[in-house]
Amino acid sequence: MSRILVIGAHGTVGSALRPLLSARGHQVVGATSRATTAPDQVHLDLLTGDGLTQAFEGIDAAFLLSPPGHVNQDELLGRLIDAARTRRLDKVVLMSAMGADADPSAPLARAEQQLVASGLPWNVVRPNWFMQNFNTFWLQGIREQNAIFLPVGSARGSFIDARDIAAVAAELLSGHAHDGQAFDLTGAEALDHPQVAELLSRETGRSIRFQDITPEQMLEGLLGAGLPRPYAEFMNVILGYFKAGYSERITDAVARITGRAPRAFAEYARDHRAAWL
Ligand SMILES: NC(=O)c1ccc[n+]([C@@H]2O[C@H](COP(=O)([O-])OP(=O)(O)OC[C@H]3O[C@@H](n4cnc5c(N)ncnc54)[C@H](OP(=O)(O)O)[C@@H]3O)[C@@H](O)[C@H]2O)c1
Repeated sequence: MSRILVIGAHGTVGSALRPLLSARGHQVVGATSRATTAPDQVHLDLLTGDGLTQAFEGIDAAFLLSPPGHVNQDELLGRLIDAARTRRLDKVVLMSAMGADADPSAPLARAEQQLVASGLPWNVVRPNWFMQNFNTFWLQGIREQNAIFLPVGSARGSFIDARDIAAVAAELLSGHAHDGQAFDLTGAEALDHPQVAELLSRETGRSIRFQDITPEQMLEGLLGAGLPRPYAEFMNVILGYFKAGYSERITDAVARITGRAPRAFAEYARDHRAAWL
């Protein structure tokens, strides 16, 4: 049994990870940038470093991520990796993103390198685009206009269910069999967005379509939704990588690590049906 600090504990991956760790007998400490409301939470603001030292007190292992909205992921994660090294944690799992290692000077790649250099037992998981984006980031267009608006053309993505990322992280945080390795995490099939729209239509009984848009229209939409310009521009850059086909690759890492095939998009759609109604 370990005492495990989960960053982003109440977000998409973190909320799936906490119960999996508890079920394995670990004690979970969930970090939040807000005021704590439960004894298993700890206040930690990555932007200011507030609460950092206290968050790591008595911790054996940690799951790290950089909250979306910020492009200085190396600074935000660097603080956490420094704290983990000071406390000599027994294991650190860092969630990066598929493709982050393509440019060694990219902020997420630099954070990965810092973890590797820390001397701590580590894993990096690099998930592909989450299925859960369709019930979070892209939800408004689906609910209000029956459409997925993205500048990605006919490129396909091997979308991954965040619950499978959590299952991988739970396994990696519970042992040392895979130490010192980075894993690209994907689903078992690559779908284009018209296929995604078809699956969502079938599940909801509505007629949901995919609308290809220009990067300029995407940027306007993201800024209109309140995203800071640097992060909106970063999103557009990575959506450009999607359009170029870099998200199509399928890996067997989920099955290899968890012993279970990754969830199919149809299962994700069934389980999240209420979100689009
Ligand atoms: N979405 C994708 O398709 C995709 C694909 C690959 C990689 N990723 C990576 O996944 C990560 C996001 O994971 P996720 O979707 O599970 O997260 P999420 O649902 O966006 O949740 C992030 C959590 O971070 C916490 N947070 C926000 N600001 C904070 C701060 N200043 N200090 C400390 N915590 C803060 C928030 O919790 P509180 O409000 O409680 O603080 C929030 O619940 C990103 O690093 C992204 O690059 C995403």
